[in-house]
Amino acid sequence: MSSARALGTRIAGCGSYAPSRVVTNADIEGMVDTTDAWITARTGIRQRRVAMNEKTSEVASKAARVALSDAGVEPGDIDLVVTGTVTPDMVFPSTSCFVQAALGLRPGIPAFDVSAACSGFLYALDVADKYVRGGAAKKALVIGADVFSRIVDWKDRSTCVLFGDGAGAVVVAATRGEGGILSTGVHSDGRKWEMLYAPGVACSNPFEGKKHHPNPHTPYLKMKGNETFKVAVRTMLSAVEEVLEANGLKPGDISLLIPHQANIRIMGAIQERLGLSDGQVFSNIDRYGNTSAASIPIALDEAVRSGRIKKGDIVVFVAFGGGLTWASAAIRW
Ligand SMILES: CC(C)(COP(=O)(O)OP(=O)(O)OC[C@H]1O[C@@H](n2cnc3c(N)ncnc32)[C@H](O)[C@@H]1OP(=O)(O)O)[C@@H](O)C(=O)NCCC(=O)NCCS
Repeated sequence: MSSARALGTRIAGCGSYAPSRVVTNADIEGMVDTTDAWITARTGIRQRRVAMNEKTSEVASKAARVALSDAGVEPGDIDLVVTGTVTPDMVFPSTSCFVQAALGLRPGIPAFDVSAACSGFLYALDVADKYVRGGAAKKALVIGADVFSRIVDWKDRSTCVLFGDGAGAVVVAATRGEGGILSTGVHSDGRKWEMLYAPGVACSNPFEGKKHHPNPHTPYLKMKGNETFKVAVRTMLSAVEEVLEANGLKPGDISLLIPHQANIRIMGAIQERLGLSDGQVFSNIDRYGNTSAASIPIALDEAVRSGRIKKGDIVVFVAFGGGLTWASAAIRW
């Protein structure tokens, strides 16, 4: 007797967008005490894109349009929008609401953002996967978009060289076919928030005096680089192992690992510990830097378009970010 296959999810299409303005390491040499040689050797980054009068919702909408078209899905077919971002245009409305309006998505559908810094896209993917798997949505638009050029301190050489702007998006659709999103894992440890954070705009109400904000004079991103490096390697490694084990897979089964593009040496350490070949790990950090929540979906879009991912491949995403947060996903393409 045949029975209907349980409802699953798959990535039906993807898209990405990066602002056209290229900022090279040589450009930054003229701004802070650094060199192209140092940045390239310590991070793998050669250039990044920087938004010129473009808001996060605008870069997000551009990536989302490509993803809809790639999936062959009309705006009216989308019944959920989730955006991972920590650089929304405004405190509210959410970036997702702006995208909903810009793309002419159906009024009435749920549209909201998730705040998980560089893990934001995978957190958003996890939410959409659960909505669709549970039957509350059939097609979800999942976006990772950030414009970190607005929150880094361009006078701080230890952070400003690392980041870039951009957006990536996927359409998650219900499927009863083979494969698709096999499993996701999302994690956080708020005790370690001071390792990587951005205070944002200083504000207090007139009743609480001046002392409430952690650092009212510097709203910019702060990071303990060395500690962050070590925790990033450890947590991303465990997150990859988690989704492999959940599906009875081994590192050798990975067709392509798409790690969050934070530092080529972090990716190298993960690759080495998992025993993966160069061909199993995707990197485009040299051209984009760390684009936070946009990093994985931009890399995915490039990997798909360049033929690095084929039907049936096992693709693993893994990310780490402020919060602290870390997350992973395994997909049979
Ligand atoms: C930031 C990072 C590249 C620094 O590399 P590092 O090898 O750890 O370097 P250190 O922080 O130990 O600094 C070494 C020296 O380089 C200097 N330095 C820092 N940034 C520099 C720059 N842009 N140019 C030149 N020198 C720099 C430091 O001041 C330090 O000098 P000192 O020895 O005289 O004190 C690295 O720690 C890193 O990538 N961390 C993780 C960051 C990350 O991925 N964050 C996002 C996670 S989502």
